[in-house]
Amino acid sequence: MSDSTAFFIKKFRENTDTPEEPGQWYRPRPYRNAVVRFRDCSIYDFEERRDILINEAGLNAFLFRADKIPGCDLLSDSGTPTMTMDQWAAMMLGDEAYGSNEGYFELRSQFAETFGAGWCEKDNTSGGSSESLFLFHQGRAAENAFFSILARQLAAAGGGSSAPPSDGLMPELKSRIESKLNSNGHADDLPLWIIPSNSHFDTTQGNIEDKRMIPLNLPCREHLENDELYPFRGNMDVEELDNLLEHEKDRVPLVYLTITNNTGGGQPVSISNIREIRNVARKHGVPFFFDACRFAENAWFIKKREDEFWDSSIRQIVHEMFRYADGFHISLKKDGLVNMGGALVIRRDGDFSKKFPHFKEGITDHQIMAEGHPTYGGLPGRDLKAIAEGLRTVVRDEYLDARIGQVVRFGTQLYEAGIPVIRPVGGHAVYIDLDRFFDGTAGDDEFKGISITALLLIAGHRVCELGLYAFGSFDGEKEIPPEPRVNCVRAAVPRLAYEDQDLFSVVEAMKVLADNRDRIPAVNVEYGRDLRLRHFKSRFSFSG
Ligand SMILES: Cc1ncc(COP(=O)(O)O)c(C=O)c1O
Repeated sequence: MSDSTAFFIKKFRENTDTPEEPGQWYRPRPYRNAVVRFRDCSIYDFEERRDILINEAGLNAFLFRADKIPGCDLLSDSGTPTMTMDQWAAMMLGDEAYGSNEGYFELRSQFAETFGAGWCEKDNTSGGSSESLFLFHQGRAAENAFFSILARQLAAAGGGSSAPPSDGLMPELKSRIESKLNSNGHADDLPLWIIPSNSHFDTTQGNIEDKRMIPLNLPCREHLENDELYPFRGNMDVEELDNLLEHEKDRVPLVYLTITNNTGGGQPVSISNIREIRNVARKHGVPFFFDACRFAENAWFIKKREDEFWDSSIRQIVHEMFRYADGFHISLKKDGLVNMGGALVIRRDGDFSKKFPHFKEGITDHQIMAEGHPTYGGLPGRDLKAIAEGLRTVVRDEYLDARIGQVVRFGTQLYEAGIPVIRPVGGHAVYIDLDRFFDGTAGDDEFKGISITALLLIAGHRVCELGLYAFGSFDGEKEIPPEPRVNCVRAAVPRLAYEDQDLFSVVEAMKVLADNRDRIPAVNVEYGRDLRLRHFKSRFSFSG
């Protein structure tokens, strides 16, 4: 008997397989809204927002009231995801016992499941679980603890030399280290410790500098190219790393890799690069760590762009990525899909554990004094349940297709509107390249990123300047731009929170700014120009 529906199934399938252009919808989202939140303010309250911006927030997006944003709040994708019903349901079953609660053991098993069996193996038999998984209330708390203990243990070991950087370094690399030393006010008699990365995130950079170490970014050369041709612009420059370790390995306690590379535009890192870094690090006997905030998004890019992995599952790719690391820290507010949480994980038999055998004791003591027992790290037991559930969801292909597909559609829409975005678009955010945005306009454009964020707030949307102000510094007389140069405004997309039409309204507001870019006023810095982490604290006024 012939099946009269077969024709239509074929047609529907063809439709569903068609690549979508912005505005075309063949595939529904793999979830539906179960709860929504109505806004208490209107897009038409332009004057009210201008007053709040100028009088309360001092033009600083971080200081602007979130409840007065009627459009998209794209300040950060961190801690802003919509949680799933499974996560909310899991929270109801939270165990609030003090230390070693049920959620901890579930989470530990889930870490082994998500990242691979070598990490936090299932071992429910002892309370000695703090051996490899240390929980924190968020990523930067883990970073802070990590670098505090590292600095203390390096100092206790009595090593380190304050001699200037070696002459064997590539000249450009050497001068980058020297300029970091000068801008950090590094005293001549302090031992010099260098922490290389593809690009450190701002809090990581802040934590490293706070311990008088030098955060050194070694992004790959393609990092500066703005072209679809380069699928892994988040990679590290392995040649520079090799040269650094060849001449300075005794002053490099570990090598870092941020996946995806947030500061570098949310760009992914390839497995080939991870393997090469691992080989170079091992050749010189230096441990290798990830800042693993967006590990699942990174794995999705590997699946799509690295031939070897086209038919691997996201879980398999994540396992492969993490096979090469000696440890990682993670803000679970990103690919943990929760509002709060962080962790530090140290491989029991890894190079880091061997090099710093007393590190885990140090970190445990730090946690007990600052965060609580390592088995809850400042988090309620119910949050641990939500994290475990989030780590299960985040590696689902359909979640990542929807998540990254939305960010790419947003970026494409901006690009097609003539707004220069960093391409290919990264996983969690769209970065607008300000040097190209203002190319050809007259006048002082030093902090026009701040002006753009301020004007967009009046339009009803919030983004974040990550450029000359966030990453530059002021030495009392002149501005020192970030090295390598970064000059962007970032629109970070919270997970599962907005629909495309919300994001496309940001594009329309950006078009107004682009069409009138000659009229965008510069800003004066009223407070905080010489402070560290100044973009979180400064206040500005429009100069015209
Ligand atoms: C790459 C990276 N590392 C570290 C952090 C810090 O994590 P948290 O916000 O949980 O402190 C962030 C936050 O945005 C990040 O993107």
